[in-house]
Amino acid sequence: MIIAIDGTTASGKGTIAKRLAAKYGLPHMDTGCLYRATAVAAIRQGVALDDAEGLQRIAATLDPAAFSDAELRTGEAGKAASQVAVVPEVRRALFDLQRSFATQPGGALLDGRDIGTVIAPDADVKLWVDANVEQRGYRRWREYLGYGQIISLEEVIRQMRIRDERDQSRKDAPATIATDAILIDTTDLTIDAAVEKAIAAVEAVLARGKTV
Ligand code: DC
Repeated sequence: MIIAIDGTTASGKGTIAKRLAAKYGLPHMDTGCLYRATAVAAIRQGVALDDAEGLQRIAATLDPAAFSDAELRTGEAGKAASQVAVVPEVRRALFDLQRSFATQPGGALLDGRDIGTVIAPDADVKLWVDANVEQRGYRRWREYLGYGQIISLEEVIRQMRIRDERDQSRKDAPATIATDAILIDTTDLTIDAAVEKAIAAVEAVLARGKTV
């Protein structure tokens, strides 16, 4: 079974993805990390975030395990990830890695922006996870505080709007809801309630005879 979980940043998709992967025993790939790692490596090596050739070289030889979670989770990494994600050469360089992960025997769960539309349009379950920008900004702001980053809530929300707009308006694989995706709005949901909804969606597929 392939599960595709797409959605906006700080919508809760990452947490839902981890919990579903554990419940169904599926290997999990957080594809945002690939774009974050490409961006962090580019910054380290002094490669411009719009240098298609330089970024392509980095993405094609990327080892995501070489980056710590704390490095990848900064606001700067998130913003830069959204910038390199616009570059078609980067998306192409990261495609095979994601596609082979998705199609491995026994199934897989991937979360990102274009899993249900581009990486695994054949996924058995597609979820689109979203919440309003104020709520997502608040969640992200609290995360930053946890990492010791001092920034105002207003600034986090402002940056998030810019990122949403960039992710949704890029020409190559824009972040869009697959026509057959199930929408989960987490604005007023606890994480447990959101996970329950996601499990219900998977169970509905399993009830139709699909095996994990
Ligand atoms: O999910 P995230 O916040 O870690 O993603 C960081 C950026 O990477 C996001 O702004 C857009 C990009 N991204 C993408 O374009 N496609 C994906 N499948 C995953 C992330």
